[in-house]
This record gives sequence, C-alpha cells and structure tokens, in this order.
Amino acid sequence: MNTDLPQLCLIRCQTKIRGINLEDFEQVQSGKETENKTSEPANGQEVLYVGIDLGTYTIAICTNKGTKFVGYSAIAYEGEQFPQSVENENILFGKAALEQTDMEPKVPVKDFLMGNTGNQEPVKFLLQHCLKSAGIELDSGESYAIIGVPAGADITYKKSILGMARGMFTGAMVADEAFCIAYGSGRMENCLIVDIGASKLNICHINGNVPGDEDQIKISFAGENIDLELIDLIREKYEDAKITKHLARQWKEEFGYVGLSDVRCEVELPLETSSEESSITEELRLACESVVPDVVSGLTKMISDSQPDIRETLRNNIYVCGGCSKIKNVGNFIEGELKELGGGKVFLSEDPDFAVAQGARKLTERMPQEFWSQVNS
Ligand SMILES: Nc1ncnc2c1ncn2[C@@H]1O[C@H](COP(=O)(O)OP(=O)(O)OP(=O)(O)O)[C@@H](O)[C@H]1O
Ligand SMILES: [Mg+2]
Repeated sequence: MNTDLPQLCLIRCQTKIRGINLEDFEQVQSGKETENKTSEPANGQEVLYVGIDLGTYTIAICTNKGTKFVGYSAIAYEGEQFPQSVENENILFGKAALEQTDMEPKVPVKDFLMGNTGNQEPVKFLLQHCLKSAGIELDSGESYAIIGVPAGADITYKKSILGMARGMFTGAMVADEAFCIAYGSGRMENCLIVDIGASKLNICHINGNVPGDEDQIKISFAGENIDLELIDLIREKYEDAKITKHLARQWKEEFGYVGLSDVRCEVELPLETSSEESSITEELRLACESVVPDVVSGLTKMISDSQPDIRETLRNNIYVCGGCSKIKNVGNFIEGELKELGGGKVFLSEDPDFAVAQGARKLTERMPQEFWSQVNS
C-alpha cells in the first residue's frame, strides 16, 4: 500500500460518537486521490493543519507550514491549586519547570491519563504555551488538528482532550498514536511499531487498519524506569550518592547506550557532602538494557500471535521510535536479542521526537474537507 497516496479515507459513521477516536470511524478504501485541497488559501488565509503528540515527557507539534516544535510536558507552580491567571509569572512551563529546584514539577498529561480530568486548566495552558512557543497563531484563520492518544486511553481522557482542542482549533479529533506513527512513516502493512517513551512502552501490530486494543501491548516500563534503575544501580556501588531523577535522566540522555563495550562514562557524582568523579559506565548500560527484555518479549508475543504467513514479514519490519530509541545501539541490540528467537530487522525512526506528531499532521492534512465539516457540525 502506498501511503503517500491517501488511500485511507476516514469518514464519520455515527453522529453521536463523532470525533472520539479513529476507531469510531468507518474506513473507506477509496484508492483514489483524496488529498485535501484546503491548504490552498481560502478567503486569502491558508488553512493550518496541526499534528500533536501529547506525551508525558514531551509535547511535539508539527504543522503543514513546516513548524516543528518539541517542549517538555511539565508545569511548576506553588501549592496544589493551579493559579487563576496564567499570566502569573510564578507559573513555569516546560524546560523552566523541569529545571527549577524550588517546586516539584507537575505532569498534567499524566494526571489526565490517570483519570484526573476534573481540572483541565493545566493541560490546556500547557498546550497553549507550546502552541505559542511554536509560533502558531490560531486566531487568524481556519485550523485543524489531530492529537495522538495512547493505546488503552479511556473515553474520558479522549473526550477531555477533544473538548479542549475543539476550543482551540476550527476542528479537532484524536487518533491512536501507533496509527499516527505508521501513517507518518508509510508503514501501514504488517509492521510492528515499538514506541519507547517516558512512562510507557507500546508495541503495536499495524495491518492496514486502525489498530484495536487487541493489536497492541502497553507496558508500564520505559524511560522513567530506566532512570530509577540507574539510581538504584549507582547507589549499590556508591552508598552515599545523592542522585535526583532529573540528573539520572540527563546522564541517560547524554550517554545512554546498550551492548557496546568501548563506551566510557565518567560523571561528577554528588555525594552527601561533596562530589567525586566516578565511572557509571556499567550501571548506565545495565539500566538502559533493562527495557529491552520487555521489548523483545512483546515483539515475540506479537509475532507468535499473528497469522503464520505474515510472521516473517512482521519480524523483518520492526520500527522503533520514541525518546528511548535514541539510546545508542538500541536497534542493533534488539536485533541481537531477537536472533535466538527467529531473528528480526529493526528500523529506527530518523526523527523519533516527531514520529507521532508528523503522522498526525499528515493525517490532518489528508482528511477530506467534508470530514472536518462533519466533525464540526
Ligand atoms: N538521547 C536520549 N537517550 C536516551 N533516552 C532519551 C534520549 N532523549 C530522550 N530520552 C528519553 O526518552 C523518554 C521520553 O520519550 P518521549 O519523548 O517519546 O516520551 P513521551 O511521548 O512524552 O512519553 P509517553 O509516550 O510515555 O507519554 C524519556 O525517558 C527521556 O529521558
Ligand atoms: Mg509518547
């Protein structure tokens, strides 16, 4: 299937469930060009198409005008109550929120995913802040957005995100993250998408359609768990080491690797009352490798659960993305681990931060205009 041609045309099938999820839409394999022509100026204004990946660590945004933005999904403010006015300079967003040390940064997207959708303001303002930081102006014309949602996200989460987005864009909908990745990378047939993020690892079998929950495995072991593992391993060796999650994450992001034998990682290790130059080479390798068994067992399960005639194709079409796919040598290492289990070919996303957002942007652009009209009606 050539996904450069938007053969996958999705239309609304029921008014009452409109816009909740791609799964709620009937798929029409029209096979003919349905590229949206509405990016051409209408009333002198070019239409804006936006793809958004609302992650628990990063928020990535792409538009049809070439904007690419990624920012941290964190907010920091005094107390428990979100301040009334976002102009309040005591609210910190993104990098500023993550790097300050006076307040515990909050991750509103994670709260939302856990079902705490009562207060929508933090997610809304975080998203607005990201859009503004990306230089995206929504007041000046028509804008349509697709926002990626993780596998298994409940209906309340989807409705809350959608309600929020509908207040910002002319039209909005949510779509499965793995489907966005597959669509964006042109891997719509017999592919295993592996997304290793901060709070979850998702493995999905894409087979031409929007995946259902039965096509996906979601594991709550990902980047954050690597950070915790690293802290534990270093503490086993240096009992009085004082390492924050933030520092462990920084080391992982800068030096993280798996399998290689020639890596040396020396860091300034904070101790109770001082610090010392120490090697964390081995601890870092073990911590980063700790995510791989779940990846390999998830892939193996997906392959063995599939029809025998497509297993070979599937195992040779593994696409790895998400922030942790930037761990050095991770693709080769997974391939090595798969060797004893029948082999496999791993492809790494060239732009892992934007794998979901670019796919969502591409989908947004290629939805027929009548789709958006229906969604908005
Ligand atoms: N260069 C790097 N090396 C290793 N790990 C990295 C690197 N860059 C980012 N990461 C890690 O990737 C994870 C974040 O990945 P990503 O941005 O895909 O997450 P997310 O989509 O926000 O999270 P989730 O999908 O779980 O909600 C973090 O744990 C981060 O520390
Ligand atoms: Mg993610």
